[in-house]
Order: sequence, then structure tokens, then C-alpha cells
Amino acid sequence: MQATSLAHELKPYKSLSNDELRQRILAIKQEMGEQLLILGHHYQQDEVIEMADLRGDSYLLSKMAADSEGCRVIAFCGVHFMAETADILANRPEKLTERRGERVSVILPDMAAGCSMADMAAIEQIESAWDELGEVIDTNDITPVTYINSAASLKAFVGRHGGIVCTSSNARAAIEWSFAKRSRVMFFPDQHLGRNTAFRMGISNDQMPVWDPYASELGGNTEQSLKDSKVILWKGHCSVHQMFRPEHVAGLREKHPGIRVLVHPECPQDVFELADEYGSTGKIIKQVEQAPAGTKWAIGTELHLVNRLKQEHPEQEIHFLSPVICMCATMYRIDLAHLAWSLENFRDGTPTNIIEVDDETSKWSLVALERMLEVS
Ligand code: 13P
Ligand code: SF4
Repeated sequence: MQATSLAHELKPYKSLSNDELRQRILAIKQEMGEQLLILGHHYQQDEVIEMADLRGDSYLLSKMAADSEGCRVIAFCGVHFMAETADILANRPEKLTERRGERVSVILPDMAAGCSMADMAAIEQIESAWDELGEVIDTNDITPVTYINSAASLKAFVGRHGGIVCTSSNARAAIEWSFAKRSRVMFFPDQHLGRNTAFRMGISNDQMPVWDPYASELGGNTEQSLKDSKVILWKGHCSVHQMFRPEHVAGLREKHPGIRVLVHPECPQDVFELADEYGSTGKIIKQVEQAPAGTKWAIGTELHLVNRLKQEHPEQEIHFLSPVICMCATMYRIDLAHLAWSLENFRDGTPTNIIEVDDETSKWSLVALERMLEVS
């Protein structure tokens, strides 16, 4: 759909109050019953999370999509790669057979809700890096691992080349699985998750060269450093988590003695190594829930989640790790207006914003996703 006609269609929704939008979404939920499943990632804004049937981190949401039974429509309040993953898992062959060929439609309420990290690795760049690497080292001895925050085409590449997908909650298990098969790993697109995880497994930084897709040759590395490598990292990062700095940790520790620093593994290594605890968004929430009342926390992950934790846990003292706002601007694009608009369009037989991955890409992505679900 053209951007101008989209803006025109959305305009009436944008002028409604959140209360009115909520009523319209609740009416559709009631009408569609269990046929509709609204999934919300933890970084989503509060009013959207209130509408979600289920909320979770990337791993839990992909499991929910994989296990979904009665539903025929998933409205994914997350970002593009999550909706693609839901489409692949919810429409895998055995599920389609069970449903006699009936597909689950996956809606991404705003098509502009992408992930800047996923956009840092295009399939053409990965393929050309792989070919170039093959001139220096044996690529049959490399397991490619892609973070779930990546386009379906990268997941398919990994599936075809004997590799695996991981999320922030199972990256270590995925890398261990990879080393059990081959002696080297290529990890994309998040260099920080790859480095933080492999470093804790005993791999030193000088065994982890970074491949820069914009470098003129060998990703900016020498032949020798690639030959000596254990994990080849991709030069990608999360624009939200890279904003946390070691001085933020030092400042909060000085101001609040005894504070526990809890970060997401997408944070840079110099912050990650200063933290007391780390984990996926789901694990961060669990750590806070399970801590004794009065625990002081400095949390390094997206702002909406940290603010929600503050509201839901007044018994804990929760600080945001950075003095500046770090929020996922693309996830934030999904609001009640987009959700109501996309659901009403679906109900009225004019579906919009449907995410459907082509069969060949789905087939190979599924291979890599199923390996992940098996090792988790
Ligand atoms: P998790 O949901 O796996 O913690 O990852 C955070 C994230 O960046 C989602 O895009
Ligand atoms: Fe992507 Fe970072 Fe947003 Fe997660 S928080 S969706 S990695 S940009």
C-alpha cells in the first residue's frame, strides 16, 4: 500500500482516544475469541501490552507461536523479524496438515516496526562474506549461528549450511551445539551477544575477529587472524543497548552502594563484564520478581520494560542504568491506533500488514529454528 493512502486510512484512528481504541480492540477480541492471539514483546509500550493475550521475550514468543493451537490470526506487537518467525513456526508443515491446510495469518500492525540490528546484516552481505572466508579457511568447518534478530533469509542461510538460530536466552547452548559439530563459529548479526557469550565460554577476544561488511577485503581482517579465529563476529549491534556505558555503572554504584547491576547480553562487553547479573528480557523480569524486597537494581535494557518493572515492583528500588533515554524506537511505532486499524481490516475482509515468508525460505529457516528449539 502507498504511504499516502496508508496515512489517509490511519488518520481517523489517530484521532481516537486510547479509551476508544481500547474498546474497539476489545470488541474484536470478543468477536474472534480464541481465533485471535495478540502477542506482545516486553519492550512494547504499556497500553499495547495491556491488549496482549501473552507477553514474553523473543524465545518465549516464538515458542508461543509454535505451540499455538486454536488461533488463526496472530497480531504480533513486536518487530518484523518476530512476525516472520511466528509465520514460519505457526505454518510449519505438520501444523498445516493438522489444520487441513488452513494458514495462520500473522499481522505486524505497523510495517515500519523493524529492528535496526537485523538490518545490519543483509543476505547478500552474509553470502559474500561466506564466499570470501572460503578463500582463506574451510567453510565446511564453520557453523553459522544467527541471532533470532535477523531476517528470515539469514535463518534460511544458516539452515542450509548446518547452522542454528539462537535467542538471547539460549545463545550459549546454541554455540555449544555448534562447537560439538565443527571447530569454528560465525555469529551474526549481534557482535555483542556473540562476544559476551563466547567470552564466558573461555574464548578470548583475540580469537574473535569482527567481520566488517563494508571493509574492502576479508571484512577488515588479516588472513592470519581468520585462521586463528574460533568465533567470527559480525559488525552489528543494537542501537538501544550500545548506549549503556561503563561510566553509568560506576556512577550508580557510587551513588547507591550495594546496587545490583543487571543487563541484557546485547550490551557492549565493557558494560557486560561490570554487571552482577545478565539475561534475556524474560530472565531480567524473573530476577527482579524473585529478589527480596528492598533490593536495589540498576537495569540495562530497553526503557519501557524497566519502567514497567518499576511500576509492578514498588517493593524494589529500580534504576535505569543510563541517564539518557534508550528505547526501541521501531518497536514503539506499534500503538493502539495501528493495532485497532489492522485488526478491523482483518475482520472486515481487507487484511493488511500480513507477514508471509516464501516457502523455500520458510523451509530452511525452520530447519535452523527447530535445531534451536531442540537445544533450549
Ligand atoms: P529478548 O527478547 O530475547 O530478551 O531480546 C531482546 C530484543 O532485543 C528483542 O529484539
Ligand atoms: Fe532490535 Fe535493539 Fe529494538 Fe531489540 S531493542 S528490536 S535488537 S533495535
